[in-house]
Amino acid sequence: MAILLPGGAGYIGSHTAIELLNSGKEIVIIDNYSNSKPEVLESIKKITGKDFKSYNIDYRNRKELEKVFEENNIEAVLNFAGYKAVGESVQKPLEYYDNNIIGALILLETMRKYNVKKFIFSSSATVYGDPETIPITENCKTGGTTNPYGTTKLYIEQILKDTYASDNTWDICILRYFNPVGAHESGLIGEEPQGIPNNLMPYIVRVAAGILPQLSIFGDDYNTPDGTGVRDYIHVVDLAKGHVLALQKLEKENQGLYIYNLGTGKGYSVLDMVKTFEKATNQKVPYKITQRRPGDIASCYADPQKAKQELGWEANKTLEDMCRDSWEYIKKNQTK
Ligand code: WQD
Repeated sequence: MAILLPGGAGYIGSHTAIELLNSGKEIVIIDNYSNSKPEVLESIKKITGKDFKSYNIDYRNRKELEKVFEENNIEAVLNFAGYKAVGESVQKPLEYYDNNIIGALILLETMRKYNVKKFIFSSSATVYGDPETIPITENCKTGGTTNPYGTTKLYIEQILKDTYASDNTWDICILRYFNPVGAHESGLIGEEPQGIPNNLMPYIVRVAAGILPQLSIFGDDYNTPDGTGVRDYIHVVDLAKGHVLALQKLEKENQGLYIYNLGTGKGYSVLDMVKTFEKATNQKVPYKITQRRPGDIASCYADPQKAKQELGWEANKTLEDMCRDSWEYIKKNQTK
């Protein structure tokens, strides 16, 4: 029996592949490498000492996807094949709706055809829009997403809720990620955004490495302790381990629909991140304060109690760990 990982060569997918292999699971990765590199598969094998099958296909290709189900005994699917750049989604909404939503529909229809009903979905705190209360619990209202990326996550959550309501033999877990950052301690895999990074940490490490000249801090006039944006940064390895525990929950319950926030429960500002990065890596990060970024919210961090109580999961790695591991990765892989 194997776990299928669409997008398994990507940032979150590759880190989760490692934790699944380390937990004794067999995996199959499918990826079209539109936002990842095939070399990542070799790194996963090197880190874990384990082998696995992979297919270079687009998960929207129904014929190719069915071939994967024909050739492998798939017991569950963890879907990481979503495009995830907020800014890019505003420029290319049709591509985001096609890849993220049409892809999820074809995946779910194929799973149903082969009677595979265990599904873990990479959702995002973005589905809460501008949160009504902080810290955010899973009962907080969702909606009011401010970009097509977040809207695709919201729509796929609705598709999953409707699917479960129509057939309660499905066994579904929705994981709402807060801000994933960091890299595996080996320095062999990490975040590789295409082009100029949208997100804070990939930008900071490129400024520290001299690839980019200066960090722009998008506004210091928010209603937060130091005026800069506050977020719940979570180490990608902690996030990956949450998926292993979520899969164990599905195996134990064998049916149901479960939703969990995966965050640390701690909010850090942009300036907190810059100061922590400089202290943890002994590197300078020159910055300037600029205008707010459209669509940004002031503050967003999780109440992670439900995942702790029901999955036995909690984030352990610190902001220093996230900074150090991100820096180690770019030092070993300084390509752009
Ligand atoms: C964090 C903070 C910015 C860049 C998005 C998605 C979320 C997830 C992570 C996929 C904010 C500030 C940033 C910069 C800055 N996506 N910032 N200068 O927007 O919280 O979340 O990415 O998994 O679903 O919504 O993350 O890293 O872009 O921004 O000042 O150059 O850093 O204003 O306060 P965000 P981010």
